[in-house]
Amino acid sequence: MYNSKIIGLGKYLPENVVTNADLSKMMDTSDEWIQERTGIQERRWIPEGSEDTSAVMGAKAAKIAIERAGLTKDDIDFIVFATLSPDYYFPGCGVQIQDLLDMPTVGALDVRNQCSGFVYALSVADQFIKTGMYKNILVIGAEYHSNGLDKTTRGRGVTVIFGDGAGACVLSREEDTTKGILSTHLHSEGKYADKLIVASPSIAHWVPEILESTEEDISYFPYMDGTFVFKNAVVRFSEVIIEGLMKNNLTKKDIDLLIPHQANLRIAQFIQKKFGLSDDKVFNNIMKYGNTTAASVVIALTEAWEQGKIKEGDHIVLAAFGSGFTWASAVIKW
Ligand code: UT7
Repeated sequence: MYNSKIIGLGKYLPENVVTNADLSKMMDTSDEWIQERTGIQERRWIPEGSEDTSAVMGAKAAKIAIERAGLTKDDIDFIVFATLSPDYYFPGCGVQIQDLLDMPTVGALDVRNQCSGFVYALSVADQFIKTGMYKNILVIGAEYHSNGLDKTTRGRGVTVIFGDGAGACVLSREEDTTKGILSTHLHSEGKYADKLIVASPSIAHWVPEILESTEEDISYFPYMDGTFVFKNAVVRFSEVIIEGLMKNNLTKKDIDLLIPHQANLRIAQFIQKKFGLSDDKVFNNIMKYGNTTAASVVIALTEAWEQGKIKEGDHIVLAAFGSGFTWASAVIKW
């Protein structure tokens, strides 16, 4: 048996900054409302004419992660790609990475778990490494939200939250089983699928719904029951963090850095308070990037690492909750 550990991290954010003031020109919203309810000041949206997509951004982040790992693309044995905004209905973005990075014909798997996508993807990769099947796995989270959002007042409850971006890591074999990913914890509750959903296009609905829909009933924009999602998020975040700590005989005092999915600064602050963590023990960057769904945890992890906030031997806890509902955590000894 082996453990797996992260040996390289990378991120890519489109340069185009969209501020709350910019949004208030498109819809009835305000900087004050957005900051007070979400903590978001600005986000990145891929500009018109750009060649960036989820796969392209994922490839850019992956290149950095591979380089920082001291490896080349030829050392990667497998690709796991998490997104809710793939370039195509099918095939998934994973195979595009194989092509974009000109990699050997390694396997590629797509994970469709929305906000907890990266933590799920990390868990999948961890299992392949633990069993000895693969040595180096590229794990990517990337989202291209901005082209699929309702940018009118009708969509303001959702649209102001989401941002575009990508993050990636190289997960590698670790012989010392007291180090690296100590455990991962995955959950779902499908009865709430309709609380945060893009209902069509789908095989069941896309042609009739899109072709016959009127302006009012289109369902290809994301729908979210924000208050319901918020209430569930705070409970599930707490549960899954506690589950991870207990599994490893750790307590909240052992957390050196908590990286929560960047859904809403108020959710992160609630969790911080509940666990009695000081400001330096919780990493947030939602203020700059908004909610980048499956990319958010790995972008935040990369940025925390770039800022020197992660040291050898630290206990890092990743936690996420979102559409599905799905939620997950990972406890890492760096
Ligand atoms: O990442 C996946 C998981 N997602 C989450 O965890 C998100 C969880 N939910 C949330 O973050 C919050 O529910 C939101 C930020 C989405 C919304 O905040 P809220 O405090 O729950 O507001 P609300 O939806 O209850 O809306 C309050 C009011 C409403 O007006 P009335 O009915 O009180 O007159 C909305 O129409 O705010 C209005 N509103 C807005 N006003 C200005 C909704 N969106 C906006 C907006 N600008 N962008």
